[in-house]
Amino acid sequence: MQKILNLITEEMIQAFQKAGYDEKFAKVTLSNRPDLCEYQCNGAMAAAKTYKKAPIMIANAVVEAFSGSEIFSDIQVVNPGFINLKLNPEFLAAYLDKMQADENLSVEKAKEPKKIIIDYGGPNVAKPLHVGHLRSAIIGESIKRMGRFLGHEVIGDVHLGDWGLQMGLIIVELKKRKPELVYFDESYTGEYPKVAPFTISELEEIYPAASAYSKEHPEYKEAAMQATYLLQHGHRGYQAILKHIMEVSVTDLKRNYANLNVSFDLWKGESDAQPYIPGMVEKMKEQGLAYEDQGALVVDVKEETDTKEVPPCMILKSDGASLYTTTDLATIVQRMEDYHPDEILYVVDKRQEMHFIQVFRCARKAGIVDENTKLSFLGFGTMNGKDGKPFKTREGGVMRLENLIRDIDEEMYHKIMDNHEIDPEEARATAKIVGLSAIKYGDLSNQASKDYVFDLDRFTSFEGNTGPYILYTIVRIKSILNKYQQAGNSLEGISIHKAANDSEKALMLEVSRFNSVMENAFEEIAPHKICSYIYDLANAFNRFYHETKILSEENEEQKASWIALLRLTRDVLEKCIDVLGFSAPERM
Ligand code: ARG
Repeated sequence: MQKILNLITEEMIQAFQKAGYDEKFAKVTLSNRPDLCEYQCNGAMAAAKTYKKAPIMIANAVVEAFSGSEIFSDIQVVNPGFINLKLNPEFLAAYLDKMQADENLSVEKAKEPKKIIIDYGGPNVAKPLHVGHLRSAIIGESIKRMGRFLGHEVIGDVHLGDWGLQMGLIIVELKKRKPELVYFDESYTGEYPKVAPFTISELEEIYPAASAYSKEHPEYKEAAMQATYLLQHGHRGYQAILKHIMEVSVTDLKRNYANLNVSFDLWKGESDAQPYIPGMVEKMKEQGLAYEDQGALVVDVKEETDTKEVPPCMILKSDGASLYTTTDLATIVQRMEDYHPDEILYVVDKRQEMHFIQVFRCARKAGIVDENTKLSFLGFGTMNGKDGKPFKTREGGVMRLENLIRDIDEEMYHKIMDNHEIDPEEARATAKIVGLSAIKYGDLSNQASKDYVFDLDRFTSFEGNTGPYILYTIVRIKSILNKYQQAGNSLEGISIHKAANDSEKALMLEVSRFNSVMENAFEEIAPHKICSYIYDLANAFNRFYHETKILSEENEEQKASWIALLRLTRDVLEKCIDVLGFSAPERM
């Protein structure tokens, strides 16, 4: 469906033209004075300069040129030349009526769907997921869902950190603790065990222990580097261990992501890119791009217009080892070969911005991506504690994601139990659903690039700009709809009539903006715009609800129309939270 703002603008354009002014001045925006009007056009002020006339004269002439408009019920000129607009309630009701019949609730699918790979999550194998990975998962998932809703083909890739010293460290530590395992014997030719010789909890203890030990003991670190080298050069036993590490880790990661309602299409990682490195490096050398600098192989990527220094992109270390950059470049080679995407979007901590500037420039210079493939970086800020420093446990350690979720669920559970007489089991299940909304909305309602403070009390509150408030609103609507149905009525086939009062019209105006908000949020990769929209929408609904006795209304037709408006409001809210990556319970 056409966006309501477009329909309005079209009419404004005609009026400007009819009055003899350029259509470029006919720009309409949402009103910033909702007490006076719903939409406004400030074009007369801009046109005044061009036509050397008083803006009020231009505005008056434009307004006179409107005749028989079906869209507006009120058009006012206000000094010095604002055109204030109110929508005709009949037109608005008809728009919503069409919207409720539309399977995508008025949102149009992209005319030219794109193939987009989103690189998000980025967990490191054998290390527990911590809150640092939370933002990538939450933001990336919501962008993926937005893109799909708008008709794009979106592929989510978790891009595991599964290459490097951490594997060698685990191997030497295992060797120390369990020397009897068959894995370490290079001459061994038999079968390797089917079941991993460690659990995820052991693995999560082994890695930090080994990592700490290696910092104090150079010979231990040397052994880990050697093990890493052997692993990467075909040591059968080590590769068998790697397989087990991967299995155990990935199973655990999948479970964790499932708790967050996050899922990936691809479970590829840094190790998958390794086979592409030698060919890529060779080509960069042939192209004359890669050159040796103090033993290392580098590519210059600075540009004349740079305002800050962009160091050369290092491709190989002096010992020939590859780096994070090399892996990311080779991953692009692989993605181009396998998918030929229109865009690759990275949702990664903004502190890695320079890394991606280097990688993107190098990929372009080396022709790894062609002109038509866009490389984008969405850098997110840090999740801080109330002290303004990166979020930690009460003891000051790194907060594991699982524990954070557990704390939130616990808090939600108590709130729910305090509020109602409810079966504890149901309260637990509801707490999980509401808890997820608290975490995700708390995160997504901030502009991604900004740091934010994780505030458990605020995020879990049923009031204010929070996930639980949005869910509470949805549940309230569901309960009214249920009561209506229980009285023997159907929700189908009801049309929406023009608003009976101001708060109803305000609600209808919010609902009608859905398609434009959704498109705009995706265009700007800005899930926070969906959050602020549903907050406004929920507020508009609650105002209407408090002013209107819906179920006791005696005029059945009026009641039915309100019910249809409620159903549409619920559908829009539920679609939005689905795109944000959470859902609403039936009751709470
Ligand atoms: N594993 C990395 C980390 O924990 C994030 C990976 C992001 N993606 C990428 N293609 N570099 O910092």
